[in-house]
Amino acid sequence: MATVSLHEALEALRQEITQTPIDSEAAAEAFRIRFLGQRSGQLTHLFKRLRELPPEERPLLGGQLNALKRLAEQRLEEARLRLRPTPTGSAEIPDLTLPGRRMFTGSLHPLTQTLEAIVRVFEQLGFAVVEGPEIEDDWHNFSALNFPPDHPARDMQDTFFLHQGASYAEAVVLRTHTSPVQIRVMERMQPPIRIIAPGRVYRNEAVSYKSFCLFHQVEGLYVDQNVSMGDLKQTLHLFAQALFGKDVRMRFRPSYFPFTEPSAEVDIWWPLPDHPEGGRWMEILGCGMVHPNVFRAVGIDPERYTGYAFGMGVERIAMLRYGIDDIRLFYENDVRFLEQF
Ligand code: DAH
Repeated sequence: MATVSLHEALEALRQEITQTPIDSEAAAEAFRIRFLGQRSGQLTHLFKRLRELPPEERPLLGGQLNALKRLAEQRLEEARLRLRPTPTGSAEIPDLTLPGRRMFTGSLHPLTQTLEAIVRVFEQLGFAVVEGPEIEDDWHNFSALNFPPDHPARDMQDTFFLHQGASYAEAVVLRTHTSPVQIRVMERMQPPIRIIAPGRVYRNEAVSYKSFCLFHQVEGLYVDQNVSMGDLKQTLHLFAQALFGKDVRMRFRPSYFPFTEPSAEVDIWWPLPDHPEGGRWMEILGCGMVHPNVFRAVGIDPERYTGYAFGMGVERIAMLRYGIDDIRLFYENDVRFLEQF
């Protein structure tokens, strides 16, 4: 009795499997669940019922059930191939005449490019490149450079203090300039010395279009016998021509720094077509002859040696070079800005 009904059930299922239409992806999924579903699919159900048969009849019916299962799988596979969305028209054949996709390669930051250009000029003039720490003690950043104890730069308003200590001499600061590298070099070398020291410096200043809390400087130092202010002017003039062209206009203005005597500042003429005077002077560096007190602090004999020093602002020079009018642009990392260099 059971045999008959199982045979009948199998025939009925064969009808259903061959006749059920599959005309959409949803119908295909419904078909799969209805006939081939692991838990309650109709084929699964019949496979379970094989146990109702006497053992000798099971292989025959089992074989027929397996064949029916393959049939259901074939219908499903065929329907899926038929229903699969096909790409239309020419998209199937790639258009080999289309231009390739450009790789975005990135570029060096304008400050890096300017720094490298400055370093290259001085290397050609025989200067060695050295570096110093960005965290400095009072001695290197101030005292050895002949800053008096009450100098305003020792004030919280101008300097980032990491540690203040009981007296000013114990202070630890973010260096406010690259001049401490002069001290570090002279402490371990005797003249002749001819170095530049590029690097980051930090100042506790109100941020505006012309000042930022960090910026870059390149320090220069030349110590030997008979070094003169004339040598300094010559070197800086060669530098300005290398960076801004043969016709560059530059001027030396008397100034004051604790670590040089005499001291000067150097301005470069910035031509501006819309400006009433046709442009304006832009300060790019401070310089001077190394103060005898600085030599004494590092154990170099000021009677025997003289030297010049300078410290230039890299951002200022980059602004002149590229016509940039806001220092903050260098630090925003806006790709639309950076892409232009
Ligand atoms: N350190 C100075 C500053 O931060 C710049 C400077 C001036 C450096 C004169 C020097 C120098 O070496 O001789 O503004």
